[in-house]
Amino acid sequence: MKSGCGVSMKKRALITGVEGQDGYYLARLLARKGYEVFGVVRKKARRSLSGSEEAPAYERIYADMMEFSSLCSCIREIRPDEIYNLAGLSEVPLSWKQPIFTAHVNALGVLRILEAMRLCAPEARFLQSSTSEIFAPSAQPLHEGSAMATRNPYGTAKLYGHWITTNYRESYGLFACAAILFNHESPRRGIEFVTRKISAAAVRIYLGRQKVLELGNLDAVRDWGSAEDYVRAMWLMLQQERPEDFVVATGEPHTVREFASAAFHALGIDLAWEGEGFAETARDQRTGEVLIRVNPALYRFPKEDVIVGNPARAARKLGFLPAHSFHSLVEEIVKSDLSALSEDLR
Ligand code: GDD
Repeated sequence: MKSGCGVSMKKRALITGVEGQDGYYLARLLARKGYEVFGVVRKKARRSLSGSEEAPAYERIYADMMEFSSLCSCIREIRPDEIYNLAGLSEVPLSWKQPIFTAHVNALGVLRILEAMRLCAPEARFLQSSTSEIFAPSAQPLHEGSAMATRNPYGTAKLYGHWITTNYRESYGLFACAAILFNHESPRRGIEFVTRKISAAAVRIYLGRQKVLELGNLDAVRDWGSAEDYVRAMWLMLQQERPEDFVVATGEPHTVREFASAAFHALGIDLAWEGEGFAETARDQRTGEVLIRVNPALYRFPKEDVIVGNPARAARKLGFLPAHSFHSLVEEIVKSDLSALSEDLR
């Protein structure tokens, strides 16, 4: 916040990764709270907004997570009160194809922005978007003190980002903390993630535009929350007296199979599952048609275990409780895909 004659008293927030799902919801939340919001983008927009598109809730500022000096200039220019680092590659399978890029952005990118903040705005507050992928698999819900061990280049790079945030907090005394985010979804989720993949396919099948949906491991268990809810937890973390890390999760385990059943159910289609392993299918209970098949090529290796979080500490200390239930989240995503696709077909 700035004070003095003619200078804005509004809080200023800088968001990296502002063009992603979480960036959208966070910028909107902060703008509604009266912040001046600046979003870091790498390139000039190629096109102007069409009439029906919402204007972004932030001012664009040009910088790149690979370019330390660009982050320094942008922090020097904005003098943010709060910095939210949401930038990075977020698709786990893609991190095997681009492991070096993943390390540059998801690991060293965090170091670059922390260094830029330390040198140019050490009084600012910093939030790192960390992930459940930093934890060692466990049958128990994962909490802030759970053992950490990673299984893919994405998790390994994020683990570096997590620890360097802790290091800067503990050694330089910066207000820097990590939100350990479990899977979080919305109508703005990319189609490469399983939730939107299922929702978009269910809608196309419902509208007669697709016959079958192929999925990988139906037994994979995730703790799916709402991105709109989770950005609220991020903001709450930067309003605390002391910087601390928090697990942000719902605590509810659901399989991919359950997500698919709920998505089709939201369209009035009830699925009947039969068979096992790679031979498992789901039929429309009414018509008997096979709507979902397993494709072994979509399985991940090493095989994944259950990933569920324990949100107790965030509830107790931040007063954070998700507003969405599992079913309301699934319905929101499906309804949004239905109205978008119906519009396209008009
Ligand atoms: N993407 C995808 N496609 N996943 C599938 C499919 C499929 O066809 N079939 C089964 N799955 C399973 C995956 O194996 C995984 O267990 C689960 O669905 C969720 O996969 P994703 O939606 O791709 O997300 P993720 O869990 O790998 O990662 C997301 O959540 C992390 C936080 O827990 C990402 O948002 C990460 O960036 C984030 O850190």
